This record gives sequence, structure tokens and C-alpha cells, in this order.
Amino acid sequence: MEPFHTDVIIEPFRIRSVEPIRSTTQAEREKLLQAAHYNPFLLKADDVLIDLLTDSGTGAMSSGQWAAMIASDESYAGSKSYYKLETAVRDITGLTHVIPTHQGRAAENILFSTIAKPGDIIPSNSHFDTTRAHVENNGAEALDLVIREGREPQTIHPFKGNMDIPALRNFLETTDLSRVPVIMLTITNNSGGGQPVSMKNIRDVSALAREFGIPFFLDACRFAENSWFIKIREEGYEDKSPIEIAREMFSYADGCTMSAKKDGMSNIGGFLALNDDTLAARCRSMTILTEGFPTYGGMAGYDMEAVAAGLYEALDEGYLRYRIRSTTYLGDKLTRAGISIIQPVGGHAVYIDARDMLPHIEPLHYPAWSLANALYVAGGIRSVEIGSVMFGLQPDGSEKPASMELVRLAIPRRVYTQSHVDFLAEAVIHVFHHRHALRGYKITSQDRVLRHFTAHLEPLCE
Ligand code: F0G
Repeated sequence: MEPFHTDVIIEPFRIRSVEPIRSTTQAEREKLLQAAHYNPFLLKADDVLIDLLTDSGTGAMSSGQWAAMIASDESYAGSKSYYKLETAVRDITGLTHVIPTHQGRAAENILFSTIAKPGDIIPSNSHFDTTRAHVENNGAEALDLVIREGREPQTIHPFKGNMDIPALRNFLETTDLSRVPVIMLTITNNSGGGQPVSMKNIRDVSALAREFGIPFFLDACRFAENSWFIKIREEGYEDKSPIEIAREMFSYADGCTMSAKKDGMSNIGGFLALNDDTLAARCRSMTILTEGFPTYGGMAGYDMEAVAAGLYEALDEGYLRYRIRSTTYLGDKLTRAGISIIQPVGGHAVYIDARDMLPHIEPLHYPAWSLANALYVAGGIRSVEIGSVMFGLQPDGSEKPASMELVRLAIPRRVYTQSHVDFLAEAVIHVFHHRHALRGYKITSQDRVLRHFTAHLEPLCE
């Protein structure tokens, strides 16, 4: 017999515990959105049918993770579960000091409040919103130096998350280096479309960091997905396993911040890992101040168990193949319908180009926000704006349009089936066909920091 082959994507797991989701009518959703001040962050999750707000902490854990959690050690100091986490992180990253934190931004807070001071500049391919906020909160400047292709939604490039190496070199040659405490690289590049960074680029950034004597840290939230893209797109890596690729990526770095809510396959947790003994000691002091004793940071013993197991599950080949294929399938379906998305499709999410879809809504009337709200009203789908509401407010209080107006459909790990994916593709295509009816928004109240989480908005009148 010929070997059986199919292009049908199947989930590489069976489902043994289910969580009901609730349908609402379009009329109900219109009222619910109004009551939430037209901000999807303020909706109750129970009023959402398919929740693509984030892939962070929203994944389903495996039976293996739950089993490890039951056997956790909740000792305040030196818990067995901490040593499991430390062993897993050291095994995958090769980094010496492992400081657990309750999530990624806590690791960022500890790192930046320890090393950054007013007037400093911290380059990255693109800082995510929390990273940027922590850099700025310490009076430093967050500088994005992604390659040009990474800012062009339609340009096809295998590694659109890459750092612009000539721009980084120029920056290092023309800047007082005492003002550059660290160079960061976000893998995959979330703000830029979930786009991967190549091994060559990681190596090049690392070489520049060494040449100029500056520490190099990875923002490693989606390191496993980045490893998979290197495997399928970069010459010389096709026969390597994801874990081998991950180990090589980390070998070029002096440290990393990690949100284990992504490729740690956990609902909460994170860590800061680094090699420098002196810096680690300073970071541990800050951990005690803000998170907890350094062998639990902000995590329960069972959280550390979940992460220790989850880091390996995220690197499983069968899982990664399914994960990336499923995201690509959604992106391809939308593309075939004529919707512009960031190309090629990234790892954890599909990013719709709202500026392209809604040219009649100007950037400071927030086209991507308008699209996200329409997706909720039409299909009960919650997504997130990555555009001028998220990034438009400047430190001096002025408004500037973001470089892109995107709606991110972030796919929680191991949660939705392919039929959910088909349903949501149809809902997005429905909104696309009715796009001319969408209107812009104005902000009626907001906070100065990370305003998108809490802002109140109103639709503009025709
Ligand atoms: N870095 C990146 C690249 C992220 O995507 C996130 C979180 C963080 C750091 C912070 O981690 O949430 O554990 O504190 N991103 C989530 C998202 C919130 O929806 O993309 P955290």
C-alpha cells in the first residue's frame, strides 16, 4: 500500500476535559461592548465565544503538567520544584542563574530597574509594550531597530523579526556606550507580527554586543516557535531538533527574560536567567523586594512544576508542526479572501492589516480598534489592537500614529480545534465584506501608562 498522506491538520492530543463556551446574539454583544466602554479588555470573558485576546497564559496544560503539579513542593526556600525549574532552564538555555518571577514583565522590571537609568538607550528589534513600558519607567529610551522588511506588512521575508545589523552598528559607534546597559532581541518579534529572528541574526547581534562590550539578552517568550521557524526556513538547521536549535540560540546570549505564559505552556510564571554573577546577585536582591524569595520568585511550587515540564512540551516537534501549520492555515484562508495580513504568517498569531482594510478611518481614529470591536460584534471573537491606541501616546503626552495598525488574532496553545479556526475565519471574512460600515473611535478617558488596557472609547458619529 502507498503510505497514507493528508493535508488535514489534526490536533496532536486528545481532549479529556472540556470547558463549555457560550453563544450570545449580535444584539447582546452590541450592548455588552457598549457597557465595556468599547474596550474589549473590559468585556467579561464569559461573554466571549472565541478568545484570541492573547496567547499568554491561556493555553491548555497537559496531563503530564497536572501530574507534576500535584507532586509539587511548596517549601518557602529551596523547594524541589525550584530545582526542577532551574535544571530545565539550564538544560535548555545554558544560562547559570535562574530567578523565577510571576510573569515576564516582573523579570523585565527586575532587570531594567537594576541596570537602566535615566538617559540610557536600550536597542531591540522591537520592544513589546510591557518591555517598552519598563524601560521608559526607568527613564530610559526603548529603541526599535527591526529590519525595514519587518515594518512592511506585505513584504515576504523569512525572518522579518531580524535586527537591522548596520543600524545597530551605527548606533553603537555613535552613542556613548555608558548609556547602553543591554541589547535586547525579542524572539519571536511580537509587535512586528510574531515574526522570527534567524540564527545568523542572533549570532550577528551577539558578535556586535561582544565587540562593544555590552550584555546581550533575549526576550525569549516564544523561543520554541522561533526555533521551529529556524528549522523550517534557515539553511543548515533542517535536520536539527527544536531543542538543539533553542540551545544554540541561547548560547549566544548573556541572559534572557521569559514569560512562561507563552512557550512555557503555563498559565502563569516567568523567569530571568543570566550568567553574570554580580548582576545576578543584584537582581536577586530586587526579586526579594518585589517578588519573593529567589527560589520561588512570584510562583507557587506547582507553577514551577508546570513550567519545568511545559518548556519541553513547547519544543516537541509534533506539537510545533501542528501549532505553526494551524496558524498558517488561518492566515492563508484570510489571504485567499482578499484580506491583507502580515506576510508571511507568524507563529502565535495572525495580524490583520487594518490600515489596508479600512483606509476610510484615519490612524488617530484607530482603525484597528474599530476592526477588533467589529469582530466581537459579528462573531463573539475577542482580538487585540496593536496600533495607535496601544502605541500612539508619547511620553510627552502627545499622540503619534503607530507605524502599523494591526489586529492580532492570537491563538492560545492547544485550546481551540480546527473547526473553531474555520468558524473564526468565516466571521473575519464576513466583517471584511461589510468593512465600509465600520467607523472610527475616540478615546474618552485613559491612563498615561499602557492605556489600551483600561481606556474608555466611543464610536465617532458619521
Ligand atoms: N515580551 C513579549 C514579547 C511579550 O509578548 C510579552 C507578553 C511580555 C514580554 C510580557 O510577559 O505578560 O508574562 O508579563 N505578551 C502578552 C501578549 C501579554 O498578549 O502578547 P508577561
